[in-house]
Amino acid sequence: MPDSSARKILVTSALPYANGSLHLGHLLEMVQTDIWVRFQKSRGHDCLYVCADDAHGTAIMLTAEKQGITPEEQIARIKAEHERDAAGFYIGFDNYYSTHTDENRYWSEEIYRRLKANGHIASRAIVQAFDPEKQLFLADRFIKGTCPSCKTPDQYGDNCEACGATYTPADLIDPVSAISGARPVPRESIHFFFTLPALADMLQDWIDSGTLQPQIANKLREWTDAGLQEWDISRDAPYFGFEIPDEPGKYFYVWLDAPIGYIASFQNLCERSGRDFDSYWQADADAELYHFIGKDIINFHGLFWPAMLHSAGLRTPTAIYVHGFLTVNGTKMSKSRGTFINAGTYLEHLDAEYLRYYFAAKLSGAVDDIDLNLEDFVQRVNADVVGKIVNIASRCAGFLRKGFANTTAESCAEPALLQAFLDEGEAIATAYEQREFSKAVRAIVALADRANQYIDEKKPWVLARETGREQEVHAVCSMGVNLFRVLMTYLKPVLPGMAERSEAFLQCSLDWTALDGPLLGHELAPFQPLLTRVDPAAVEALLSASAETA
Ligand code: 2FM
Ligand code: ZN
Repeated sequence: MPDSSARKILVTSALPYANGSLHLGHLLEMVQTDIWVRFQKSRGHDCLYVCADDAHGTAIMLTAEKQGITPEEQIARIKAEHERDAAGFYIGFDNYYSTHTDENRYWSEEIYRRLKANGHIASRAIVQAFDPEKQLFLADRFIKGTCPSCKTPDQYGDNCEACGATYTPADLIDPVSAISGARPVPRESIHFFFTLPALADMLQDWIDSGTLQPQIANKLREWTDAGLQEWDISRDAPYFGFEIPDEPGKYFYVWLDAPIGYIASFQNLCERSGRDFDSYWQADADAELYHFIGKDIINFHGLFWPAMLHSAGLRTPTAIYVHGFLTVNGTKMSKSRGTFINAGTYLEHLDAEYLRYYFAAKLSGAVDDIDLNLEDFVQRVNADVVGKIVNIASRCAGFLRKGFANTTAESCAEPALLQAFLDEGEAIATAYEQREFSKAVRAIVALADRANQYIDEKKPWVLARETGREQEVHAVCSMGVNLFRVLMTYLKPVLPGMAERSEAFLQCSLDWTALDGPLLGHELAPFQPLLTRVDPAAVEALLSASAETA
């Protein structure tokens, strides 16, 4: 139960699009968020994690059409798949929702009305490429043509993959619609804009407030220094999304209602759980609000979103936590190399906790990219988790079961050593809080080394062969189990499945708040394997399967 010093915290990760499977890039973010949330919960805070599918937009409409299903069917299918895969990685959402919902429609319309009432919505005609065959406006990425610079055919939108030139789709030679193949024609239509420049002062304060990572604040300053532009928030029919109130045929751009999905998902959670919505989202909210996102969507979360919230009289985020991209074996995930790995494919070959551990061992609070080096992955998980941490429990469990009725000793053999483990707790907690997970993991593994060293020095396997030294064996192995308990408590946010199996073995809860004295005269359950070694052959099989899927 949260006590009076408990913080009220709401956490989100970016909403995955409803037109594709989750891949390891999504998982890097979800695992980072989930570890942070589980840590807060373990510390006794009232922390909630909500997410949803990002269900709107042209791409989803076209994907559904291609498959001969309605967009509603498409988003329902993908949502079930996303939820299944995320659960496979132990992502503990308190709610997983969708942006195509009544709550999201309500808040999108409401926020739009408030912006409009404040004079922050403008409208004017713009000219865009139009597909005369499909009868729809074409975003840049839906136009192909020959590069004006190097003349390579079949280049998309606004940059050439062959020579790297950047241009506007209008510069393409022989442009065609990527959807129908028809030649696009220019066409005028009315669009609606959110007048970001009118919120420049508010944004300057927000950027200077000190809550953003320095790299992010600098990036945002670059944009504000270059001059804020009005943001186009409307799209013409046909579009899969919400129609703009009183503007028939005009829809909210997917990026307008996507972040509002955070609010909608949370409201849906409130409806189901009786929580108080206002204390999280009103301007005077007492809850903390954090968005975990990747560095590709900083503009939406660092500029448009806080400005929208502010104009709508809602609270702004406490902070935005930005991470870098995931690379595999040093390069961008690649379908041909088999390193574009879907979450579902991974789960068919490897244990989710291997990856959770590896990501944790590499994540920091900075915006740096994270590399999944598969050789290092196998080596690290096997050496640290199996070789060091599991080893402590497994080498002590047998002696306790055989000689001591599977019960720990009545007194603690090395109170100072145990205290040293407990004393490390605050530094480890600080590292988790600051998202310095690699630092936390290093400290935990260093403690595991000390525990193993202690057992190595005492040599219970030698003592067990000598008569009259049973008590020492009992003392050493009980000590080992108690040190393991502290370590697994610290690791539980990273390895929730292994922690659950450890809780079953130790017959106690492994929450930070439950970490008091040692387990004395405490009966254990039979020891079950906690985690098996990563099989390098399974990694190879994963790569082959990923290449095939691609
Ligand atoms: O970039 C993306 O994958 C988007 N679907 C993220 C949306 S995050 C939030 F704003 F909804
Ligand atoms: Zn070119």
